[in-house]
Amino acid sequence: MNKHWFRNYKLLNLDEIDSTNSEAIRLAKTGIMGNHIILAKRQTSGRGRNNKYWHSCDGNLYFSLLLDIDAQTSNEPQLSIVTGLAVYETIKFVAKKSFAKLDCKLKWPNDILIGDKKLSGILLESINVITNKPKLQKKYLIIGVGINVITNPTDIHRECTNLLKEGIIIKDLQQLLFIFMNYFEKYFIKWHDADFSSIRKSWLEKAYKLNHPVIIDKISGTFVGIDFAGRLNVKLESGKVLTLSEAEVIYK
Ligand code: BTN
Repeated sequence: MNKHWFRNYKLLNLDEIDSTNSEAIRLAKTGIMGNHIILAKRQTSGRGRNNKYWHSCDGNLYFSLLLDIDAQTSNEPQLSIVTGLAVYETIKFVAKKSFAKLDCKLKWPNDILIGDKKLSGILLESINVITNKPKLQKKYLIIGVGINVITNPTDIHRECTNLLKEGIIIKDLQQLLFIFMNYFEKYFIKWHDADFSSIRKSWLEKAYKLNHPVIIDKISGTFVGIDFAGRLNVKLESGKVLTLSEAEVIYK
């Protein structure tokens, strides 16, 4: 394990693991102290949202942040928004370096799209652990990120893309992670300083299909934004606005 590879994060660099999120959960259960990054070249059981499989062959970026975070201060929907922005900025940064013009968008809660195609996904999980010495309850937050760098799944119901296909060559995956960490730190500090309103504004400027019709659980409405907790706002035909922290959103 590298001592403080990025600021106060230690790096665990693996060739193969079932899932970097699962490894982070296992580390959390040991009561480990401090923040960690678990990076893997490939995953044998990569996990997506709603128990979906995340295709994880060699050449793409798979990592999880294990945040040793105070239970009182953690706010998962907001940190999902923070992470989405950091991935967005990372993609824009590498695109600029490759002179590639990308229509990059953030789809609530945590997909990063190029046009209508999925490039990256984020999986947030949390775990409470009771430690023995000293006896206290700790909460860890796990932020798993997958970015399609040279390949993407072709056998799933939705269209995907990868950076190479979009004209961006990444020579060093660890360098890509480092770029992400710089943006994550920038937004995390803002979030920590209770400046979620500027984060929210920035996210909304990059939102996929804002003010477009959507369907959620067979209910039709319009995606009108996110609230100050990072939750989805959908306006129904009656004028009522629904606030949801979890939902499968279908854009018409
Ligand atoms: C999604 O869009 O459904 C979320 C996908 C998250 C995938 C990443 S890859 C690294 C980390 N480890 C996992 O098993 N999943 C996340």
